[in-house]
Amino acid sequence: MLGLLVAISAVACFESSYADAVSITTVTVPYHNYYVLAADRPWDPTWVNRVEIRCEYTISPAPATPPTITWLRGTFADREVVYKWSSSGEVYVHPEFAGRVSVESRTRPTLVLFNERTWVDRYWCRVTNEEQPDEFGTDEESCGFWYVGIGYNLPKLLATVHLDKTPVHVDAGGTVQLNCTGVPDGRMATIFWVKGPSCTQGGSCDSYETVIHKSSGWGETETITVSPNFAGRVSLATRGVSITPTLTITDIRPRDAGRYWCSINYPDDRYSSSFGRWNRGAQSVVILVNDPVTEPTCADKADGKYQHPADCAQFYTCSGGLSYGTNTCPAGLVFNQDLQLCDWANNVICL
Ligand SMILES: *[C@@H]1O[C@H](CO)[C@@H](O)[C@H](O)[C@H]1NC(C)=O
Repeated sequence: MLGLLVAISAVACFESSYADAVSITTVTVPYHNYYVLAADRPWDPTWVNRVEIRCEYTISPAPATPPTITWLRGTFADREVVYKWSSSGEVYVHPEFAGRVSVESRTRPTLVLFNERTWVDRYWCRVTNEEQPDEFGTDEESCGFWYVGIGYNLPKLLATVHLDKTPVHVDAGGTVQLNCTGVPDGRMATIFWVKGPSCTQGGSCDSYETVIHKSSGWGETETITVSPNFAGRVSLATRGVSITPTLTITDIRPRDAGRYWCSINYPDDRYSSSFGRWNRGAQSVVILVNDPVTEPTCADKADGKYQHPADCAQFYTCSGGLSYGTNTCPAGLVFNQDLQLCDWANNVICL
């Protein structure tokens, strides 16, 4: 009996020490590849313009404080807040939506819209674990909203994206392949992979790094742009002559840990009769990097502070060829070796 108890507690202890490292938020909007519809029936006096956009989430391990629920509208990385239910309990409603929006509950944050006639838009359900205030703690998914009045049609084209959201574990130095499929694909698709969100100097925590971007090749040449932090390490898979959204990252670095968003859309203006620029689905997956800690050496180095090779949020101090230890920058900052200080991430390239 005693032996059994010991075995159980040993397992529980191992699990919690592993899981305590980082808490991951995962948001699911059912039908995220489609849209909800309000179809006006002016001849029907019983018709009520009321739509629901469902949202579900998990936070693992669960935080002690409730998460912040935010519904936004717009296109990915260019949105405005419609409704925000802060962790503290405070509720904000965009003035345009006053009296026309509610959220079911904090555990099931379905968005309910009344008399919404802004018929071309995309609504994002964002869940933020305030105890994990970084890219691991924030996730979101979206669903289109379409209002059909007299003489209007259903949307013709929808960009859809599908990504397995199971967190990916990879060793430093290893390779990871993030399998993303979508419509459109090939030449017509605009493909973005962005990492984030992180905070910027202005205090807004809605900043994303574009890891790789492929422009649409519809009528022009496809061009691929890569962030300097990922130069030579990222590629999009091909199928025949088509470029697909599946992303491969090689020579994984501890700094690569974080949340990656696969986002696809149609050429910006070509299909403006449909969802237009709102026609951009996105889904995210988290990469966790197992980092064998390597201590940097100060031998042959001039006196000064150096960005830590394993984590550019850390720096070590060298003097007379000896190391005077490793320090960590304040949360959200990384070490700028040129200026010899902790700086905003968007000012610094991780070496
Ligand atoms: C992506 O697909 C490849 C090939 O099927 C597989 O080896 C790899 O593990 C997948 N990646 C993830 C993150 O599941």
